[in-house]
Amino acid sequence: MSNKLIDKFGREINYLRLSITEHCNYRCFYCRDDEHAPNCKREDILSYEDIQRIVRLFAELGVSKVRLTGGEPLIRRGIVKIASLISSVPGITDMPLSTNAHLLGKFAGKLQKNGVNRVNISIDSLIPEKFEKITRGGDVHEVIKGIDAAIASGMSPIKINAVAMHGINDDEIESMIDFAIEKGIDIRFIETMPIGNAGIEAADQHMSEQAILAKISQHLEGRLIPLISKKTDGPASNYKIKDTNTTVGIISAVSNHFCQTCNRVRLTAKGDLILCLGQEDAISLKDAVRSNLSDEEIKQMIIDAINKKPEKHEFNTVVDNISNRQMAEIGG
Ligand code: GTP
Ligand code: 5AD
Ligand code: SF4
Repeated sequence: MSNKLIDKFGREINYLRLSITEHCNYRCFYCRDDEHAPNCKREDILSYEDIQRIVRLFAELGVSKVRLTGGEPLIRRGIVKIASLISSVPGITDMPLSTNAHLLGKFAGKLQKNGVNRVNISIDSLIPEKFEKITRGGDVHEVIKGIDAAIASGMSPIKINAVAMHGINDDEIESMIDFAIEKGIDIRFIETMPIGNAGIEAADQHMSEQAILAKISQHLEGRLIPLISKKTDGPASNYKIKDTNTTVGIISAVSNHFCQTCNRVRLTAKGDLILCLGQEDAISLKDAVRSNLSDEEIKQMIIDAINKKPEKHEFNTVVDNISNRQMAEIGG
């Protein structure tokens, strides 16, 4: 059995996005329907043992990067324990977290000590009233406290993610870049993706990569130096901002296909292995680890699933394919 996961398009899968809860303490309008309330029983969710075994099997198949996502990962009880279990799996050398940072002030130090080496934080506005509206109840002051706690903990790099939306926060692109420069952290702007009903509705506010880049370039005239991605990197195209410690990036999930360099799969909190963010195909690894299948048999299931990984998403053509999965359920 190979110790690498290569799909039928020759892409090496070395990055697992692991959602540890479908719940979230925020309700960003582009991510979750207002009334969406996941209802799942405790036994539906992967246990510590399930998670540790699945991550070990992926690591034996060459995965070295496991990102903790949600929903909001910090609201899962036992988050610190989960971090420690995953980071002690041999072969896992990068364990970042994606969070809204509302609770990061409390957790950053403990997580850093338990293997979370870096963090990506969603923040779509720096204006408290607007932030509260976008997140339907969030508090930007808590998020900034979370960012400061992450910086103080020594996690690095720290990246902020802003979904760029026409008529919502396109007037804050410049001030958010300045905020990142001032804090000495990185920033990426994300194109709105038509995922789940909330994402499909938010498509009206979609801002293209070109429009985002035009604003960034105008603000930073001549100070952008393009960077080359590493093998395990996510999908952003990044630029170093001259004379700062900050990089700025764009995740152009709709305008551009970065699918040819896709290196990742996703596991939901309920144990479904999702092969592509933009497609429905999934297999249940929860059932597999709770059956009496051996490690070798489960690894073979993973290899077979990776062989079915689709070539690309179809956001522009078959939106219906993804409409019944919420982004908060998939983990972004
Ligand atoms: P790094 O490891 O720091 O490069 O992180 P990342 O960009 O992979 O992770 P993050 O959780 O910060 O994701 C940022 C945005 O990129 C989210 O909106 C994700 O949904 C989106 N994203 C990540 N992977 C994919 C992908 O395979 N396809 C698409 N369309 N979007 C993705
Ligand atoms: N389009 C783009 N990004 C989204 N996210 C959630 N929903 C969407 C969407 N419809 C982002 C969050 C977070 C990341 C994990 O996913 O803002 O930064
Ligand atoms: Fe929660 Fe993140 Fe979705 Fe906002 S984008 S509702 S913070 S999961």
